[in-house]
Amino acid sequence: MEKKDKIKMESKLKESEVRYRRLFESAHDGILILDSETGQITDVNPFLIKLLGYSKAEFLNKKLWEVGAFRNMKAAKDVFRILQKDGYVRYEDLPLETKNGESVAVEFVSNSYLAGGTLVIQCNIRDITVRKRIEQINESKRLLEEEKLKVESIADATHELRTPIAIIKGNVDLAMKNGKGKYLKSPEKALKAINYEIKHLSGILADLSLITSKAWELKNRLFYEKVKLKSLVRTIVSRCKALSYEKNISITSKKIPDVEILGDKRYLEKMLINLVKNSIVYGCKNGHTVIDAKQSKGFITINVTDDGIGIKEEDLPHVFERFYRADKYQKYGGNSIGLGLAIVKWVAEVHGGEVSVTSVKNKKERGSIFSVKLPIKTSK
Ligand SMILES: Nc1ncnc2c1ncn2[C@@H]1O[C@H](COP(=O)(O)OP(=O)(O)O)[C@@H](O)[C@H]1O
Ligand SMILES: [Mg+2]
Repeated sequence: MEKKDKIKMESKLKESEVRYRRLFESAHDGILILDSETGQITDVNPFLIKLLGYSKAEFLNKKLWEVGAFRNMKAAKDVFRILQKDGYVRYEDLPLETKNGESVAVEFVSNSYLAGGTLVIQCNIRDITVRKRIEQINESKRLLEEEKLKVESIADATHELRTPIAIIKGNVDLAMKNGKGKYLKSPEKALKAINYEIKHLSGILADLSLITSKAWELKNRLFYEKVKLKSLVRTIVSRCKALSYEKNISITSKKIPDVEILGDKRYLEKMLINLVKNSIVYGCKNGHTVIDAKQSKGFITINVTDDGIGIKEEDLPHVFERFYRADKYQKYGGNSIGLGLAIVKWVAEVHGGEVSVTSVKNKKERGSIFSVKLPIKTSK
C-alpha cells in the first residue's frame, strides 16, 4: 500500500473511532464493553455511570457480577456463559440496584463481535422505568375499567333476576285474588306464566353458576363420549325452531360432515344452542340462520351465520367476555345478561378448541358469523 493511501485509511479509521466515541459518550442508553476472554469490564459510558451511581473506577476491570449494581442479578453470571455460547443475550426487564439502593428496571441486550481480531462483548442497558410506569398506569386503568364493568354487570344481572321474580309475584297476587275482579287471571294461566318465569330464572342461575365456578371443578363435571356432529346439529335445529317462530327466522343446516367429536354432549349442545339462540335474539324478522361446518386437518369448524343486527367493530373483541353486552340499553331478546358467549368460549376451549367471530354492522351490510373450531376424534 502506498504511504498516501495508508495515511488516508488511518485517518478514516481515526474518524470512525471518534464518531463511535462520540456516540458512546453521548448515548442515552447505558453501554458496557467487556473483554470476552476474562469477562472483565473494559469500558463504561457516562450514561450508565449516571444511571447506576457508580464511578468509572468502580466498573473497570471488574466482572459483571462484581459490580454492586449487578451483584444481585441472578442473570449476571448467566450472561457471560450464554454470550460465549450464543453470542447474544437479551433480558426484557431486569431489576438493577443503584449505588444508593434504588431499583431501576432496565432492558439488557448484549452482543459479542470481533473488533480488530479480538472478541468484544457490548452490553446495551436501557432504562425502562418510565416505560414500565406508563405500562403500570395503563394496567391499573384497565383493571379499574374491568372492576367498574363487573360492578355494573352484577347490577344488571340482579336486575335480570328481579324481573322474573316480579312477574311471578304479580301472577301469584292475581291468581289469589281471582274471582273478585273481572280482569284477573285464571290460576291455570297464572301457573303457566309462573312456570315460564321459573324456567327462565333457573336458566340464568345455571349460567351464573357455570361461569362463576372454578374452571377445574367444571372440568371434572364433564362426561366425555363420542358425539356425532350430524345428529348434534339436527337436535339443535329442532330445539331452536320453537324459538324462531315469532320472528319467522329460518334455521337451516348444510354441509355437515359425518365426523365425531370427543366431548360432553350436554355442553356441546349448550354451546351451539347459545350461538343459534343469539342468531335469533339478535336476528331480524324474516331472517335466516345457517349452520354449516368445514373440515380441516384434525379439526372441524362449525359456523353459525345470521343476517341479524351485526356487531360494531369496537364491540367485537369483547363479546366473549363474561357479562359483556354490546347494546346494553337496547333490549332485543329480553333476558340477556351477557353470559352466553362466555359459556360458548369456555366449552370450546375445554374441548381443545377455540372460538372466533366476524361481523359487520354498517349502513350497507349487517350480520355475524360465529365459528367454533374443535378437534375431531380420529378412529384409533
Ligand atoms: N348473533 C349476534 N348478532 C349480533 N350481536 C350478537 C350476536 N351474538 C351476540 N351478540 C352480542 O354479544 C353480546 C354477548 O352475547 P351473549 O354472551 O350471548 O350475551 P347475551 O345474549 O346474554 O346478551 C350480546 O349482548 C350482543 O350484544
Ligand atoms: Mg346470548
